[in-house]
Amino acid sequence: PPVLVSGIQPSGTLHVGNYLGALRQNIALANDPARRSEAFLFVADYHALTTLRAPEALRRNTLDAALDYLALGLDPDRTHLFVQSDVPQLGELTWVFLCLTPTSLLEKGVAYKDKTAQGASANAGLLTYPILQAADILAYAAPGRGLIVPVGADQKQNLEISRDTAARFNQTFGTGGAASEGGADDGTEPGRGGLFPLPEPLILDDVAVVPGLDGRKMSKSYGNTIGIFDEGAALKKKVMSIVTDSTPLEEPKDPDADNVFALIRLFADEAKQAEVAAAYRAGGYGYGHAKKELLALVTDYFGEARERRRALAERPDDVRDVLAAGGAAARARAAEVLGEVREAVGFLNAG
Ligand code: TYM
Repeated sequence: PPVLVSGIQPSGTLHVGNYLGALRQNIALANDPARRSEAFLFVADYHALTTLRAPEALRRNTLDAALDYLALGLDPDRTHLFVQSDVPQLGELTWVFLCLTPTSLLEKGVAYKDKTAQGASANAGLLTYPILQAADILAYAAPGRGLIVPVGADQKQNLEISRDTAARFNQTFGTGGAASEGGADDGTEPGRGGLFPLPEPLILDDVAVVPGLDGRKMSKSYGNTIGIFDEGAALKKKVMSIVTDSTPLEEPKDPDADNVFALIRLFADEAKQAEVAAAYRAGGYGYGHAKKELLALVTDYFGEARERRRALAERPDDVRDVLAAGGAAARARAAEVLGEVREAVGFLNAG
């Protein structure tokens, strides 16, 4: 089975788009007792530094993201949960990859163009962001195994760049070696002559793009999010602010054209979805009713996790212990991979 790798930026509070698009799959796969290979799940603080200049917030968000993961049910005994910056080998691997990357490719990056268009500073970290991402996926490659990366649709291009980077390295420095015996013919596992497998994105169709309060993709930078652990008045305020059209209460409504229903269907079971859709179509059911329904669904959906989070928040040292152990395991794997990379590119000491 492939090694599971996925990251999340601590650039703010995690939202239900992050959860449905990636965290839920990460947790389900990482906890699955049938899965016999490793999982590396991390908080991508190096990446967050491309846009965040607030040390206290970065520290707090990083610990909060780890807490969120554990509260949402991630079993730390089955997963290496860690902080990206605890793996300094990533800087070295990024450098090696950068030396193989055409500048023109980076300038075409969708995320780079989007973020700078929204006013983020056009720093070199933001430009080279996808290559750091390639490094922080490929650093955990294991001999004879593929790499699987659960993400939302917005990471598609970054994953393509990771695959291209792996292929470019393999082509340039492919010499065979311990990590390259066998491998699947489709190139997803390292084959003869290549150190790196091509990472496979895992994108689930129905949650590939979770919509936000205004119907655009839910995103911190659009300010249209529902936090996973929002509750009470704050949650209510957000749900009530979801943008709807002005169809009067009595009239029938099309559930498939409405932002409230788009979220309801992500949290309700099939029977509930059918019931609410029928009420929309029948008329006499207003957007206010639908918002109340959504509020109840979200509150209920994260209820247990919210309780676990409260308990965990009392024990931040336990969370730090989990991260320390995860960081040690991640460094150990990355150091092995770097040893092979150093050898392959011709550094005098393979280290
Ligand atoms: P980030 O931190 O923006 O988001 C974390 C994960 O949540 C997904 N996501 C969504 N999915 C569906 N609908 C949405 N509205 C939505 N918003 C966010 C993202 O696709 C992502 O899977 N560059 C990455 C972090 C990263 C990474 C990695 C991911 C760094 N290294 C290695 C995978 C592997 C990012 O900024 O995600």
